[in-house]
Amino acid sequence: MKKHLLLGQTLAFDGPALTDWQAATRHDSAGGVLIAGDRIAAVGHGATLRAAHPDATVTDYGDALMSAGFVDAHMHYPQTPIVASWGKQLIDWLNTYTFPQEMRLAVPAYARDVADTTLDLALAHGTTTLCSYCTIHPGSVDAWFDAAAARGMAVVGGKTCMDRNAPDGLRDTAQSAYDDSKAALDRWHGTGRATYAITPRFSPTSTPKQLGALGALWSERPNALMQTHLSEQLPEIAWVRDLFPQARDYLDTYEAFGLLGARGLYGHAIHLEPREIDRLTEVGAAVVHCPTSNTFIGSGLFDLAGLAARGLRIGLATDTGGGSSFSMLRTMAAAYEIAQLRGTALHPAQLMWLATEGSARSLHMGGTVGHLGAGAMADIVVLDLASTPAIAQRAARAADLWEALFPTIMMGDDRAVRATWVAGRPVTR
Ligand code: GUN
Ligand code: ZN
Repeated sequence: MKKHLLLGQTLAFDGPALTDWQAATRHDSAGGVLIAGDRIAAVGHGATLRAAHPDATVTDYGDALMSAGFVDAHMHYPQTPIVASWGKQLIDWLNTYTFPQEMRLAVPAYARDVADTTLDLALAHGTTTLCSYCTIHPGSVDAWFDAAAARGMAVVGGKTCMDRNAPDGLRDTAQSAYDDSKAALDRWHGTGRATYAITPRFSPTSTPKQLGALGALWSERPNALMQTHLSEQLPEIAWVRDLFPQARDYLDTYEAFGLLGARGLYGHAIHLEPREIDRLTEVGAAVVHCPTSNTFIGSGLFDLAGLAARGLRIGLATDTGGGSSFSMLRTMAAAYEIAQLRGTALHPAQLMWLATEGSARSLHMGGTVGHLGAGAMADIVVLDLASTPAIAQRAARAADLWEALFPTIMMGDDRAVRATWVAGRPVTR
């Protein structure tokens, strides 16, 4: 089996850093990551690993920082071509930019082109796993998983289901959503590194009948993930109240149809009622924080500290194209800024944990991806902590790792990504 030894600084976590980052964090300023085949065989001191494994091919990254590759727990690959579209809030943004763009993915070759572009951008930004919505077209699901397989990447995806409040050409039915989702799930879930997520877009675009059909599918395929949107923007919540007058709250529109569970991912989750937080916590569901999207579309300020204190599992995500960046560095920066507006300062260790381990756990992939440790897949990002003059002059004054890393979190982009490794192979830059 081919062995690689990567030398540089290492940053790893062996516990939940959101609650106690000091106890969970492992940093070695002269570390090493030993890769055997597609997995990490060991993380340790560089010189020790080098002496013990003279047969390994060595790549010395100097004082660059090696971390688990970033995990983007919620995004929309079909929207890559409309990222950074001006001037709209959620409902208008969907109707003006998103739906016309998603219509274009009816053509499988175009879907593949957008999937390829998205994954190449992700890798250039150090993101090795993404959980994406596809479009209502089954071909868009194949395009996503084929493009990921061609790169050896572990991704999550699912056919987006909508049978109302979407334009002609972008609606399925309760039955076809069930049939097409089931076929795609059975085709892809567990094939190579693929994971399927049953994907009702959000309650406003699904009839109760469709939500029920997808809830039934989830009960027949309980190992699949389920992803949707929850309480992102106030006009959206008012709309849900009108559409589901019998529901206790937004979450209840999922719960009543079998779409609440531990393997559920609820994107945004900004304006939650106490009952919703209680139920999400009780069932062990995950909420996904999409900070650049929440400021860009004007949605609100996610209560990370409050939800983390309740023990909720929390992922971090770009939400492109509602989010305004492909970079999990920029996403961490936005999470930091939103937490500041709510009176909490997130530590760089907590931000890095969220972008790797936290997101991986929300996808039920903890220990396999987003983890720099023996047994995990060798999906790794190598960060240059002095990638621009502005960052370099600040990092040069750093007293410790955290002061050296934080400028890259706040000001870094794809120039900070010295290398990305996927399944034990370098993605050449
Ligand atoms: N809610 C329903 N669909 C979407 C989407 O595509 N993006 C965002 N940000 N929110 C949504
Ligand atoms: Zn979304």
